[in-house]
Amino acid sequence: MQKKKLMVHDFMKMKESGEKIAWITAYDYPTALFAEAAGLDMLLVGDSLGMCVYGYEGTVPVTMDQCIVHTEAVRRAAPNTFVIGDMPLGSYQVSDEEAARNAIRFLKEANVDAIKLEGGKRVISRIKAILDAGIVVVGHIGLTPQSSGQIGGHKAQGRTAESARMVIEDAMATEEAGAQMLLIEAVPPEVSGFIAKKLKIPVFSIGAGADCDGQLLIVSDLIGQFTAFTPKFVKRYANVAEVVTNALKEYVKDVRAGAFPTDEHCYHMIKGEEEKFSKLIREYE
Ligand code: KIV
Repeated sequence: MQKKKLMVHDFMKMKESGEKIAWITAYDYPTALFAEAAGLDMLLVGDSLGMCVYGYEGTVPVTMDQCIVHTEAVRRAAPNTFVIGDMPLGSYQVSDEEAARNAIRFLKEANVDAIKLEGGKRVISRIKAILDAGIVVVGHIGLTPQSSGQIGGHKAQGRTAESARMVIEDAMATEEAGAQMLLIEAVPPEVSGFIAKKLKIPVFSIGAGADCDGQLLIVSDLIGQFTAFTPKFVKRYANVAEVVTNALKEYVKDVRAGAFPTDEHCYHMIKGEEEKFSKLIREYE
């Protein structure tokens, strides 16, 4: 049976009824196929693809063009899942116009259901400009990797009462601006739980505890594919790095030992052609 695609009003209903929403990142066609088959509610083509796909140290070098290419592939694989394009650094910081233009690119070129951008109060006019273009906006507050230099590195936020106040004010400003959903990253559950109760829009956690309306994990962490570092909030459900490395080691061993390929991996000549072929090669002797 074809999966029913959920939209923002469905996520609102799920929040109201207490049904949790499951969200992961995806960057490529095969992963998005698995995600849709597994029944994920939402997919984020995060700029974390900078580390997880391209091997950059962080998300800073990621471009709009890279995000579009990966989002298109995910969209093709998961037509019945809510897909969110992630605005990379430089795509929305300069002006409202540029923010709207790049969000429109996501819609026209990759057929996204929504875009996500980082920052609370300081991106309010950008959120409004993108909403004015008719595009669904997901806010992202707390630890915001694109501006990690300004917030003291990749550190949890909201761990003091004053820092928690800033996170709460960012959350309220994002909802007031009209964003339809909000992601909170690396914030204590006491703070994110309070925000999830206070806001009407669905509030998601990545490293912000269980008391939100849904959860996001980076797929490469979840399946054990990205192993350079693993944040405290990650739960690993598989060890793809080990499975793939072991498979590749077996292949190397087989090739070196002449154990691959065997007859079952070969195409044989069509019946009756062998004799003609024996004659033919004699021409070359
Ligand atoms: O790019 C991404 O995957 C993200 C998550 C870290 C929230 O923005």
